[in-house]
Amino acid sequence: MQRRRAGRAHHPVLPAAAVLTHLLLAAATVAGADEPGTPAILATVCGARQTPDPEGFDVSFVTTLEMIYQNVTRSGYGAAGSGAGNDTVFGLGQCLAYLSPTDCQLCYAQSRVKLPHCLPADGGRIYLDGCFLRYGADNFTAVATDASDTAVCGSNATGGPPAPGFAAAAAALVRNVTAAASGARGYYYASSSPESGRAPRAYAAAQCWRSLNASACAACVASARDRVLRQCLPGAAEGYGLNAGCVVRYSTRPFYLPADAGGGGGSSTRHTVIIVIASVFSAVAVIGIAFVWTKMRSRRDHLHDDMDGSGEIIRAIAASHLSFKYQELRRATDEFNQINKLGQGGYGSVYKVHDPTPTPF
Ligand SMILES: *[C@@H]1O[C@H](CO)[C@@H](O)[C@H](O)[C@H]1NC(C)=O
Ligand SMILES: *[C@@H]1O[C@H](CO)[C@@H](O)[C@H](O)[C@H]1NC(C)=O
Ligand SMILES: *[C@@H]1O[C@H](CO)[C@@H](O)[C@H](O)[C@H]1NC(C)=O
Ligand SMILES: *[C@@H]1O[C@H](CO)[C@@H](O)[C@H](O)[C@H]1NC(C)=O
Ligand SMILES: *[C@@H]1O[C@H](CO)[C@@H](O)[C@H](O)[C@H]1NC(C)=O
Ligand SMILES: *[C@@H]1O[C@H](CO)[C@@H](O)[C@H](O)[C@H]1NC(C)=O
Repeated sequence: MQRRRAGRAHHPVLPAAAVLTHLLLAAATVAGADEPGTPAILATVCGARQTPDPEGFDVSFVTTLEMIYQNVTRSGYGAAGSGAGNDTVFGLGQCLAYLSPTDCQLCYAQSRVKLPHCLPADGGRIYLDGCFLRYGADNFTAVATDASDTAVCGSNATGGPPAPGFAAAAAALVRNVTAAASGARGYYYASSSPESGRAPRAYAAAQCWRSLNASACAACVASARDRVLRQCLPGAAEGYGLNAGCVVRYSTRPFYLPADAGGGGGSSTRHTVIIVIASVFSAVAVIGIAFVWTKMRSRRDHLHDDMDGSGEIIRAIAASHLSFKYQELRRATDEFNQINKLGQGGYGSVYKVHDPTPTPF
């Protein structure tokens, strides 16, 4: 529309965007795997193409990830699409079946915070230790393998090479679990190698996304298996095959067993984790509301058809290494609290974005 206003001061989104950007950046800290309870990022792959309409695409991105949130955290899998034309965004999230519901929520929250780093690319995927999240302009949910498939290999916790005999046991086990995955419940199969005096136990698991059919799952895990056997064995104590439609993992550690045997996080750690999840989602909800509000506003009032306010928010996320420390998040949300709090929603607090500009028309 040609009736674009010149004065930025009259744009209703900018003050809200500035406040949000400020709070998000204040709350953002560079925190890595050293943060206890934070699942490690194994790989991030961002698409090479940029979306022709970043602002509209960002809105659909937030909507799609919000749509799949409920199903991923409830059942470990969710897929959805939203938007139209160039603003269509498909999304898929999957937790590995060995995660507890709480760990799945934490993992999904973390992946959802990290994935916007790929924007404004029109597709991206992230593999965390325990979950997967992907978005794209095309419906990729039936894709099992593609050119971005990769393997990640790691050393054992003490840094040394695996004990003699481990590689052979791990290779046999990886073959076993990948052969079983496509016929298993939820396309998930995990097992350990038999006890033997000569070799330490190996542990392995294979998981396909639930959007695949059985034959696509079998093809996917076979491809991931071959990559892991070729690239990670015999030298590495840990290996991950990361495909478009599945993951295969082996380790010297019983990673898929409940953590209480191995001394996992205590209940206070758990409590903090849950609070952090609630906080992260309240921050995400704020962003979502800002988007929807901006969108409705711009529909209602064609004078405000440029959406640089909302783009600013999502790009602030993209530019930062958003990993929330609880104290900082609380400080940020308390600050925000003073601006305007509407009430409690399913994802934590819901805030109103204050519009200081009276409509003068
Ligand atoms: C989508 O983007 C392309 C490239 O910018 C443009 O040519 C096309 O008209 C757009 N389509 C729609 C429906 O807006
Ligand atoms: C979530 O799961 C329910 C029940 O399985 C299904 O009806 C719904 O379409 C799913 N929604 C999304 C967004 O995946
Ligand atoms: C994506 O494609 C699959 C079939 O490959 C279909 O079942 C699914 O409904 C599609 N998703 C959306 C959001 O349209
Ligand atoms: C499984 O899915 C793939 C990919 O969508 C498709 O090409 C194939 O025909 C499907 N196979 C069966 C048996 O449905
Ligand atoms: C891990 O590395 C240490 C140090 O080299 C080695 O002694 C140990 O056997 C390895 N553990 C396994 C399970 O391979
Ligand atoms: C693989 O499966 C076969 C048959 O089920 C079993 O005999 C063998 O011990 C398994 N190997 C490993 C390493 O789990």
